[in-house]
Amino acid sequence: MKILITGGAGFIGSHVVRRFVKNYPNYSIFNLDKLTYAGNLENLKDIEHSSNYKFLKGDIVDEAFVFEIFKDFSFDGVIHLAAESHVDRSIKDPLAFVRTNVIGTVNLLNAAREFWEKDKVDKRFYHVSTDEVYGSLGIEGLFTETTSYNPNSPYSASKASSDHFVRAYGETYDLPYVISNCSNNYGPYHFPEKLIPLFINNIIHNKPLPVYGDGKYTRDWLFVEDHARAIDLIFHKGKNTETYNIGGYNEWQNIDLVRLLCNLMDSKLKRPTGSSEKLITYVTDRPGHDLRYAIDANKITEELGWTPSVTFEEGLSQTIDWFLKNKPWLDNITSGEYMDYYNRQYQQ
Ligand code: NAD
Ligand code: TYD
Repeated sequence: MKILITGGAGFIGSHVVRRFVKNYPNYSIFNLDKLTYAGNLENLKDIEHSSNYKFLKGDIVDEAFVFEIFKDFSFDGVIHLAAESHVDRSIKDPLAFVRTNVIGTVNLLNAAREFWEKDKVDKRFYHVSTDEVYGSLGIEGLFTETTSYNPNSPYSASKASSDHFVRAYGETYDLPYVISNCSNNYGPYHFPEKLIPLFINNIIHNKPLPVYGDGKYTRDWLFVEDHARAIDLIFHKGKNTETYNIGGYNEWQNIDLVRLLCNLMDSKLKRPTGSSEKLITYVTDRPGHDLRYAIDANKITEELGWTPSVTFEEGLSQTIDWFLKNKPWLDNITSGEYMDYYNRQYQQ
């Protein structure tokens, strides 16, 4: 089986690539990534020389390039993760999200449609999406696979649009597809613009922890390796045309999560209890900030037997340990383009 994984140099993609390269020595894994600010081949150092792995540098927005690789490598399956993924960046530059998340996805769909036209048996286009397409919950309720789409940010609107295109290609051209919508991930290799790794990095450097608004926004956090395991299961055992919601059964208000993180960091850095909490700074809220996301993951649990394997306290502790052990990884990132973004985003 030849599998194209897009966005494999990013946070979640690198965990998916590693899992497939290690667990399926008989597959050929092709990682297509543009290496934007979020893509980093350091994330895959341990498997880069594996005989069943090949890196393809390219842009999914480049139609000719996408068709060329489908022609050259005759993929049997696609696991599509490449995306612009940060809500705050989407507020500043929505078109970048339309290009990669919408046009890039349609380019991949067109190539799969053309090259799989004659033989669709055992082919599969797996689109990895987010729970943010459903919009915001109030204080009660959960997102299920039948919750209607109601995206509120340019990021979630672009992901919702790409989900619709995938479904439409299934209906219109009989393209074999499956979609999953997952809640917030955290773990090793998480890019330090997102809440958890940003705050770990800021605590290390004694910098302010910028909590948006009143900090009462709620997210459902899942350890990234549990997401990668769910993707593996869905790719192999999920049913075509189905959507699977993936979540951590693990809701936290941002401010409670930040306090937990501060306490863990104090103890791991051997700093007096309370030192990191002093860094908490309430800043201007994100426009259109979704109040709450929470997933009903019953379907994937019932149909495919998936449940999260790691408690939040374990996962968060492992994640902090990883960041503390891999400071050069963090320092390389925070010394580059990302710092310009950071300065623009948080200038008051
Ligand atoms: P990320 O930003 O860490 O990685 C994205 C990767 O895509 C990077 O390696 C980047 O170089 C690559 N990429 C971006 N534009 C590209 C282009 N035009 N052509 C080729 N490659 C390109 O993102 P992530 O957090 O790992 O998310 C991966 C996927 O999972 C996304 O589709 C995202 O919507 C989805 N998702 C993320 C989360 C989360 O909590 N991070 C939750 C649910 C779903
Ligand atoms: P983020 O990690 O950007 O994920 P998403 O917006 O996709 O859920 O943000 C998680 C939560 O943390 C979200 O409610 C916004 C909030 N947040 C802050 O309060 N401060 C920050 O600096 C960041 C990046 C996020």
